[in-house]
This record gives sequence, C-alpha cells and structure tokens, in this order.
Amino acid sequence: MNLVCLLFGSSIGRKILMAVTGLVLVGFVTGHLVGNLQIFAHPDKINGYAHFLQSLGPALWGIRLFLLACVVIHVWAAVTLAVENSAARGPEAYGVNKWLSAILASRYMKHSGIVILGFLVYHLAHFTVGWAQAGSFKTALAEYPMKGDFHLLGFPIVAKGQAVHDVYSMIFLGFSHPVVSLFYIVAVGLLSLHLLHGVDAMFQTLGLRNHQWAACLRRLTIVYCLAYFLGNLAIPGAILTGMAKPAAGTVAAKKLAAAAVASPSVVQR
Ligand code: HEM
Repeated sequence: MNLVCLLFGSSIGRKILMAVTGLVLVGFVTGHLVGNLQIFAHPDKINGYAHFLQSLGPALWGIRLFLLACVVIHVWAAVTLAVENSAARGPEAYGVNKWLSAILASRYMKHSGIVILGFLVYHLAHFTVGWAQAGSFKTALAEYPMKGDFHLLGFPIVAKGQAVHDVYSMIFLGFSHPVVSLFYIVAVGLLSLHLLHGVDAMFQTLGLRNHQWAACLRRLTIVYCLAYFLGNLAIPGAILTGMAKPAAGTVAAKKLAAAAVASPSVVQR
C-alpha cells in the first residue's frame, strides 16, 4: 500500500491527515490574526500588507488552493472518522462517563465546525469579494493613496502615493454594524473552542502528548486559544465600542461621521 492509500484508506491515516491539515489551518488563522491586528496601527500598515498579499498573484492562488484543499480534507476526515466511530462503538463499549464525553466532544466539534464553515463563506463574501457589504458602508472598491513607503522585513513593497485597496476602511466600516461584529465574535469564540479540543487531539495523534508533557501542552493550548480569542475579539470589540476610531481623513472616518449626522442614534462615537 503506498503512502496516499495508507493516509486516505485507513482510520489512523485519516487521523494523521486531520492533525496535519489542522496544524496548517492553525498556522493560517494565527498568521491572519497577526496581520489583522495591524488595524490598530497607521492605515498604511494593513493596506500595504494587504496589497503585498494581493501582489503575490499566482502564488496567492497557489496558497488559496492549498488552504482550500486542507479545509476539504480536514472536514472529509472528520466526517468519515465520526461515521466510523459511531458505527463501530455501541454505548456499552465504554464506561458511561467516557462514552458521554466522547459523544459531547464530537457533537460539539461537529456543530462548531459547521458554524465556522458558514462563517468562512460569509467572511469571504464580506471582505474578500465584497458582496455582503451594506449600503453606505460598501467600500470594496475604495482606494487608499499610501501616505508613506511601506516595507516588509526591510524590503520595499509599496511606494508613497501609490493607490491600494482600502482594507483599513473596509474593516472599520464592516465592524461598525453591531450584528456583523456580534456574528464575528460568536464565530471566533466557537473557533477558539474548536481549537481547544482540536489542538489537544492533534498532539495526541502526532504522539506528542505523553504523560510527561500532557499537562504542559494542555496549559500551552489553553493560553494559545485564549490569546487567539482575545486577539480576534479586540478587533470588532474595539471598533464597535468606539475604543478604536478610524484615522482622520480616511474613507471610514468620513463615512462614519456622515452616518452619525444622518442617524445619531445608530452611530454614536
Ligand atoms: C476579527 C477577525 C477577522 C478580520 C478582521 C479578518 C479580516 C480579513 C480581511 C480584511 C480579508 C480580506 C483581505 C483582502 O482582500 O485583502 C480576509 C480574508 C480572509 N479571511 Fe479573515 N478576518 C478575520 C477572521 C478570520 C477567521 C477567524 C478566519 C478563518 C476561520 C478567516 C479566514 C479568512 C480567509 C480564508 C480569507 C481569504 C484570504 C484570501 O483572500 O486569500 N478570517 N480576512
């Protein structure tokens, strides 16, 4: 049996696929959060960074397809393993407590996984494609002239004055909608809980969770998931409460000021 057949055709292979694709996706969501936290810096930062990602062209599409393949394999492995498990194991195969916690964990992973997939579809429509942006808050096509040169790791990426996609205003305007922000907060909350169980299971599958390390890895996982949740909460939370305000002169600042004049009860800063 070759490696591909072993990975896709056996339960342990599917567990390894789930762990490895999960690890790739954890890497992506962590990197994405670090990039997104630049929203609290000068608009040049996040707009220059987004422009850099867009300018990767075919490489960006390669990364997107790779991530999509990871999501598809991760979900497929989860579903087939859950079906196999429930077929192979009657309630009597375990003690009642173990059986109950296994069922609860898998149900909760399944339900949180479904909400995360739904969130992802909405999120791509909202920020990547710009379909799910409402009325005066629509900014998908807004352009932002860079105020200074943008460097990444010392390399010049965007020159002062160059017009780039205004991701900064898009995020501020997007999260000025309470319903949108609350949905993001619920989704990243569920994603953090999903990671809490998933990262633990990943360590187990990869054989990293022996007796000596178990408690330490568990603590690291909890700290990571909590930091991940708080980092993600900070963005919609700070924008919605007005703790973070868009920089003066940006499209977001102008549109929010106009919305506050038109309807003071809706946008109060
Ligand atoms: C507060 C939380 C988040 C913010 C502010 C945010 C922001 C953004 C923005 C602005 C884009 C579009 C970038 C561009 O078009 O240049 C984007 C794309 C994306 N986001 Fe998020 N995001 C958040 C959370 C998440 C989470 C939790 C996930 C995963 C479950 C996620 C997955 C993605 C993916 C897959 C893309 C598409 C990347 C691409 O176009 O190649 N995001 N996000």
